Amino acid sequence: MSKIEEKKYKFDEKIVVLRNGHIDDAEELLEVIKKLDYETPFLLREPGELTLTIEQEKMFLQSKLESEVNLFILAEVDGKIIGTCAVNGNARRRLRHSANLGIAILKDYCGKGIGRRFMETSIKWAKENGISRITLQVDANNFRAINLYLKLGFEIEGTLKKDKLLSDGTFIDSYTMALLL
Ligand SMILES: CC(C)(COP(=O)(O)OP(=O)(O)OC[C@H]1O[C@@H](n2cnc3c(N)ncnc32)[C@H](O)[C@@H]1OP(=O)(O)O)[C@@H](O)C(=O)NCCC(=O)NCCS
Repeated sequence: MSKIEEKKYKFDEKIVVLRNGHIDDAEELLEVIKKLDYETPFLLREPGELTLTIEQEKMFLQSKLESEVNLFILAEVDGKIIGTCAVNGNARRRLRHSANLGIAILKDYCGKGIGRRFMETSIKWAKENGISRITLQVDANNFRAINLYLKLGFEIEGTLKKDKLLSDGTFIDSYTMALLL
């Protein structure tokens, strides 16, 4: 089962809890994801683009919990969800060793070490679950994220030119990065 043990860490006199996402989180999670889309240009959706219903989100969370190749974890502070981290694996045997990672934290909680904890927890889970290659894509101007990934041992494998197009007409290059475990 794709589950982690719940973990607690301290930052700024507060406790952050890392735990699996459950179907009961669906409604709050959708609000957090919508907020993230307004807060950061570094994710894939434009503000207001998310159209998932609570029912669809519940099905998504349940499928992650049941899957052996996917992990979906949340960070909570003061009982509120403030970020998510997902490892999306492959069931096909030729790709079973490989998974793609995505991570996002609300602006007020960035730069406090939560991203590093999310990543370390996900990497440990991947190792324990037969994954030996973690990939991710990151905007070439997302210096905080790139710093974090490099510090954890990820390498840049290539540049995807004009990979994203923002609503203001700006094209953004991405790096594809990987960590071999
Ligand atoms: C990218 C993101 C996940 C990083 O998580 P975080 O909690 O903010 O990062 P951390 O506080 O754990 O910092 C980890 C490392 O990043 C680096 N870092 C932190 N803040 C930084 C900043 N403002 N500029 C450059 N590097 C920075 C530090 O080197 C730090 O290393 P250290 O632990 O050795 O000090 C988070 O900022 C985020 O969700 N951003 C918005 C969405 C996003 O960009 N997602 C990633 C898409 S690929």
